[in-house]
Amino acid sequence: MRVLSGIQPSGELHIGNYFGMMKPMIEYQERSELFCFIVNYHAMTSVSDSQRLSRGTIEVALDFLSLGLDPEKSIFWVQSDVPEVTELTWILNNVTPVGLLLRSHSYKDKTAQGIAPNHGLLSYPVLMAADILLYQGEKVPVGKDQQQHLEITRDIALKFNATYGETFVIPEAEINPNIPMVVGIDGRKMSKSYDNTIEIFCEEEVLKEKIARIVTDSTPVAAPKDPDKCNLFINISLFLEEHEKAALAERYRGGGLKYSEVKKELFSRMWEYFRGAREKRKNLAKDLDQIRKILRAGAEKARYRAAPTLAAARKRVGLVY
Ligand code: ADP
Ligand code: TRP
Repeated sequence: MRVLSGIQPSGELHIGNYFGMMKPMIEYQERSELFCFIVNYHAMTSVSDSQRLSRGTIEVALDFLSLGLDPEKSIFWVQSDVPEVTELTWILNNVTPVGLLLRSHSYKDKTAQGIAPNHGLLSYPVLMAADILLYQGEKVPVGKDQQQHLEITRDIALKFNATYGETFVIPEAEINPNIPMVVGIDGRKMSKSYDNTIEIFCEEEVLKEKIARIVTDSTPVAAPKDPDKCNLFINISLFLEEHEKAALAERYRGGGLKYSEVKKELFSRMWEYFRGAREKRKNLAKDLDQIRKILRAGAEKARYRAAPTLAAARKRVGLVY
């Protein structure tokens, strides 16, 4: 099974990104053929600061590699190192109805927020379709917010196949119901756009301060508390074994529990959980040329896989004469 997914290089990695996307993705390398790439062309639709884009690309590569992505077991690269994807985007543009793109939720949300849309933003789903179809991706693990983009990809692939003959595998989204929706320090979904995130690789003091800011209710210490309604409990559960979680839930229900103690416990659990990755990341960051080498080697492999599909698509539409 060929599993494929992309991540935007758009900011410091938080525990929502890790548990919601990165960890499940990395686990695929053990049981599937994993294609994992950093979508810097896509990020151009929201990042216009060139330094931020190039730095963000290296940072997310460091995140993936330090958290366990193995470039020997997977194909890991930067989207723009395989520029063939833009050629396929152009080909696919010609079977993509504009109405389909205008109905995209993410396009509508962004324009509703007052962002002046450019063509890149409208065309975002076509580039994403090219990402998936170029490598004949079969399964695409994504968050619920990306489900519509996957439907657009399928529509485009079906239309191409119907117009020009069978060329592309029709991919399927995989939305895993077991993947947690991580809550932020204010109790809403953790997201950079809500400024409520807990970053994985921040400094120790910053992490303590973030955890101290997790919003809890004002139930008196002695009173019983409901763990399932507590942001803190939901967050610490990510780092606990089932039996530890049950024991902590008992302490909540029994009364006498101080949130400040749970916060201390969350800090030490999280600090410990990411200790190995933090050290690995520090080491990897000492030699960024080595990271670039890994990414370029990944791009070579990806390019090799992309070549027959692009050649077939070019032939189908009549670009070969
Ligand atoms: P943000 O909302 O912080 O901007 P992104 O939209 O860049 O995060 O998300 C990147 C990936 O991380 C997506 O695949 C998404 O499914 C996952 N993700 C982000 N926030 C969470 C969360 N709070 N819980 C679970 N998964 C999340
Ligand atoms: N649009 C996706 C997101 O914002 C990122 C992405 C780009 C992607 N190309 C992809 C995801 C191909 C899966 C497959 O999260």
